[in-house]
Amino acid sequence: MRAAMRWAPTAGERSRLRRAAATDFRFDSPERIFISRKGGVASNVVTRRDAGVPARVCVTNAKGGTGKTTVAINVAGALNRRGRDVLLVDLDPQGNATEGLGLQEAYDAAPPTLFDALTDRCHREALDDVVISHPEMDVVPSNIDMLGAERELTVADLVARAKAGGVAADPTALSELAVNVTPDGVSGPHALDALDRALVGLDREYDYVVVDSPPFYGKLTDTGIYAARNVLVPALAEATSERAVELLVDQVTALEAQADIAVETLGVVANRVETTREDEEMLAWFDAVFADDPVWEVRKRVALQRAFSAGESLFEYDDSVDMTEVFLDVATSLDEQFGFAHPPEIPT
Ligand SMILES: Nc1ncnc2c1ncn2[C@@H]1O[C@H](COP(=O)(O)OP(=O)(O)OP(=O)(O)O)[C@@H](O)[C@H]1O
Ligand SMILES: [Mg+2]
Repeated sequence: MRAAMRWAPTAGERSRLRRAAATDFRFDSPERIFISRKGGVASNVVTRRDAGVPARVCVTNAKGGTGKTTVAINVAGALNRRGRDVLLVDLDPQGNATEGLGLQEAYDAAPPTLFDALTDRCHREALDDVVISHPEMDVVPSNIDMLGAERELTVADLVARAKAGGVAADPTALSELAVNVTPDGVSGPHALDALDRALVGLDREYDYVVVDSPPFYGKLTDTGIYAARNVLVPALAEATSERAVELLVDQVTALEAQADIAVETLGVVANRVETTREDEEMLAWFDAVFADDPVWEVRKRVALQRAFSAGESLFEYDDSVDMTEVFLDVATSLDEQFGFAHPPEIPT
C-alpha cells in the first residue's frame, strides 16, 4: 500500500487498492499486478469473483424521485449485458425496485426477510434464503417489514455506542426500544455494518452488488453506503439538486468520520434531462462540482417507465432505446473503476 503511493495512483487504482487491502490480495503498483498475500502471483488482472469481493455500488441521493431505482435497475441491467453477475439489493422500505423487477409478492412475504438479516444477529446468514432470481440479476427484495428497519438500526447503533462508552445509556434499556436488537447481538463501535456483514455471509458470489437506497438520510442509507463504500449519485438537472448534493456530501463526510471509512464517488447520473436552459446550467454545475468524476446524462424517456412497469430493465424491455447506451457507458466505467479488465462477454 505504501509503495503504491509513490506512483500517485489514479482514482480507479486507489479504489482497487482499498479493495485489495480488504482481501487476500495486495496490489503491487510497479507491475500493476495483484499478488496473493499467501504467496503466488494471482494473475495480472484479478476479477472481483477471483478476489472473492464483489464490487459494491450504493445508488443514493436523499432527495426523492431523482431516479435512484431507475438507475439501479438499469445499471444492473447494463452490467448483466456486459456479462457480469449482479445482485441488486432493495434497501428502500417503499420496495420500488422490488416492484420494478416484478417481484411484488416478495414484498409481502413472511419472515425471515431482509429486515431480519439486517437487524437480527441470528438471521444474518439468512440473506441467501431471501435472494430471488430475476432473468437479468439476482435480487434481495425489500419487504413490508423494512418499514421498521430504520428504527431497529438506529437503536442498534445507539446500543453499540453505549456498549463502547460513547453514549451514557444502558444498552439493555436501549435495546428494549427495538424488536430484534439485543446487546449481545451488537458488537463494535457502531452498528452500520449490518448489510456489510449480511453480504459477506452470502454463499453465492457476484461481480457486483448494487444497492438501491431510500430517499432519506438515516441509518438505512448509511448502512448501504457503509457496505458499498462507493456511491453513484442520480440527480435531476434542476436547481433543487444543488442542495441535495450538498446534503449528500455532508452525510457522507459525517459517515466517513463516524465509521472511519473512505467513500468513493463513482459518478453522477444527471437524470430526466431535457433540452432547456435550466438543464444545461445544471449539467455545467455537475461538471464543475464533480470535475474528477464522470457525469452521465440520461434523457427523459417514457420507455424507462414502461420497462419499470414490465418488471425489467430497458435492456430486456427494448434495447433499441437510445438510453441503453448511456447505461452501458456507466457500466463500462464501473468495470474500469473497479478493475475489471477482462473483455466483456456479451450474451448473444
Ligand atoms: N429518465 C427518465 N425518464 C422518464 N421517467 C423517468 C426517468 N427516470 C426516472 N423516471 C421516472 O420517475 C419516477 C421516479 O423515478 P425513481 O423511482 O427511479 O426515483 P427514486 O429516486 O428511486 O425515487 P424515490 O426517492 O421515491 O426512491 C418513476 O416513475 C420513474 O419511472
Ligand atoms: Mg427509489
